[in-house]
Amino acid sequence: MDLASTIKDVAKEAGVSIATVSMVINKKADHITMKTKKKVFDAIERLDYKPNLTARSLVSAKSFTVGLLVPDITNPFFAELAKAFEKELSREGYMTLLCSSFEESEREKQYLSELISRGVDGVVICSLTSMETQILDALKQAKIPYLILDNRYALEEFSVHVDDYKGGVLAASELLENGHKTTAFIGSKNPYDNIYNRLQGFRNEIERAGGEVLTFETELTRNGGEAVAEKLFSSEATAAFCSNDLIAVGLYDAADKHNLALPEELSVIGFDDISFSDIVKPRLTTIKQPVGLLAEKAVQHLLLMKKDPEYHFYKELIPVSLVKRESVTKPARD
Ligand code: RIB
Repeated sequence: MDLASTIKDVAKEAGVSIATVSMVINKKADHITMKTKKKVFDAIERLDYKPNLTARSLVSAKSFTVGLLVPDITNPFFAELAKAFEKELSREGYMTLLCSSFEESEREKQYLSELISRGVDGVVICSLTSMETQILDALKQAKIPYLILDNRYALEEFSVHVDDYKGGVLAASELLENGHKTTAFIGSKNPYDNIYNRLQGFRNEIERAGGEVLTFETELTRNGGEAVAEKLFSSEATAAFCSNDLIAVGLYDAADKHNLALPEELSVIGFDDISFSDIVKPRLTTIKQPVGLLAEKAVQHLLLMKKDPEYHFYKELIPVSLVKRESVTKPARD
């Protein structure tokens, strides 16, 4: 690797002018042919050329950074989402500033104002715990494009999210097909739009078939699953639809302690399809959120918003699917 590679070296290697290289790097090359662009990219790769960010920022008035605000980075769903997001963004020459709020609205405010003062080029918000949304006004005033990803998409804001209602319907159909009538939904203590819609889809489908849904609320964590287990196990429910996979894993822990056989004595369905779902025993049946696609869409929209302040898309709905594994079976009792 040549540490001293410059834009001049890249131009020479690619056989083009310095101005052409500069236009390609700064994404102002709509009029340049693909063949020439490829020559430039190949030369950049061969020389491992790193554009001078400070200079790029001065020329383009961009910081080439984007904030990603998540509730909990220890939840594998958000870790996997952050990884996919970072990969997408870095392809476009941007860096991700990852902020984990632990679902505390004070932290969310602090992080957002910090991101504003760092002059980020955009913010993707997966954590908005407080129902007061004035917190978003500061982003508007600073003219920083932002969008909501995942949980608070009922707001009148640009958002990218999965079809949570359909996820609930798919989970219900799977339980109904297996003969379950009395079911449980384990939701969140916080009033999130996505969890609400998962419940709506699930409840409508179960009740349409003459079944019943008992509801429980807890934290969206493994501990949350354990905390709710005792009440759930002593209820009439023969199956539980958990609003995320971590809650399901918590139920597995508790079932083990209570000597409750899964899925024979309780069928379980999760939501997310984190990598653990395929590792736990019984392997967890769940509703898959395509995190790669969520990240790709969020990045695409955000960068278009940055490029053109008039750009608008409103809401992007991403499909979900049922991943059948081993945690659903016929009920042992009626
Ligand atoms: O696991 C985290 C869950 O909460 C996911 O289902 C995601 O959609 C979120 O809001």
